[in-house]
Amino acid sequence: MHVQTNAPLYSAPTAEAIREYYEALRPFWHPVLPAADLPASEPRPTELLNQPLVIVRLNGKLVAMEDVCRHFQAQLSLGEIREVAGYGDCLMCPYHGWSFAPNGQCVDIPQMEPGRDIPTSARVPTYHVQERYGLIWVCLADEPRFDLPTLPRVDDPEFLTGPLRTYEPWVAAAPRVIMAALDDTHGPWVHEGLVGSREHAAPPEHRVWREGNVMKVDIQMVQPNNATIAESDQDASTREVHLTTTVAIPNVIHFDITAADSTDGRHTLIWQAVCPRQFNKTDTFWGSSRNYDHDQPVYDEDFEAMQDTLRDQDRRIVESQRPWLLPPFWTKIELPLRPADLPLIEYQRWLEELGITIAV
Ligand code: FES
Ligand SMILES: [Fe+2]
Repeated sequence: MHVQTNAPLYSAPTAEAIREYYEALRPFWHPVLPAADLPASEPRPTELLNQPLVIVRLNGKLVAMEDVCRHFQAQLSLGEIREVAGYGDCLMCPYHGWSFAPNGQCVDIPQMEPGRDIPTSARVPTYHVQERYGLIWVCLADEPRFDLPTLPRVDDPEFLTGPLRTYEPWVAAAPRVIMAALDDTHGPWVHEGLVGSREHAAPPEHRVWREGNVMKVDIQMVQPNNATIAESDQDASTREVHLTTTVAIPNVIHFDITAADSTDGRHTLIWQAVCPRQFNKTDTFWGSSRNYDHDQPVYDEDFEAMQDTLRDQDRRIVESQRPWLLPPFWTKIELPLRPADLPLIEYQRWLEELGITIAV
């Protein structure tokens, strides 16, 4: 089929396509904030799928509310926590002092005439929220489509966990950011000398399968030998690595990396969880851990600096991709190759099944 692509390919998506994209992503858990960035007794603003949210701990429990007061729409996250008799901690709006209980119901209006009831419509929507892997995760739908992903070995006490890093937002859609991490054939072109080598540019053989709520990819590939990762021969210029990738649809990717010929049981874990703030604005949270070199500093400067370089190299490519939202396969705008692009094809296929790819 011939597809007329000029206008939709290069212009921003229609308002309708953007709305559908946000709707399609609502039933999933998204990371919105490092838990360490939320003080014990203050609210914090955040944004998910173009929706302002306030995250706050009330009576020791996490609460996620729409960050808009029901009175005159001031931002609740500018307010403060105060106690209201019978409700404990509540979030008080900074404008006229209306207070909202953890379930979003307004429970105190200072200007109310005595004897009158607070209208039940004075309620702010609240959302599912939980904390895991050092992040606060929110789901905006009534029922999450999948459970929050379990990241292999990340909770294992044998592993030394590095700092959780937050990258400044990329001007790109979340699935494209995940696909850049999943794509294992761009290394020789984008990351030559770091994790790719044009002398070993042949795509790896992939095994790709679904396991419950996640997609798995298993590969072996030759990479330049970088000093701070599981490896068998420090002196060789290249090494063969074995990667087991876990993708929690749609927004989390986790790599378990070992030397291919390794019998030493050394594992390096790297994971990314991305937050779709807006259709073309995506934040990335990044974590790593390892089960060796426990006596070395947790913060490994060379390794972290290399990750920064890799991400900068990826960023200019991903921000250049058009259309902004993944085009459905049927448009034939993309030309994925088999078997080289198999992980990307399978990831996108799953997104399509879940309605996350949007017609351009
Ligand atoms: S706008 Fe929030 S109390 Fe008036
Ligand atoms: Fe990359």
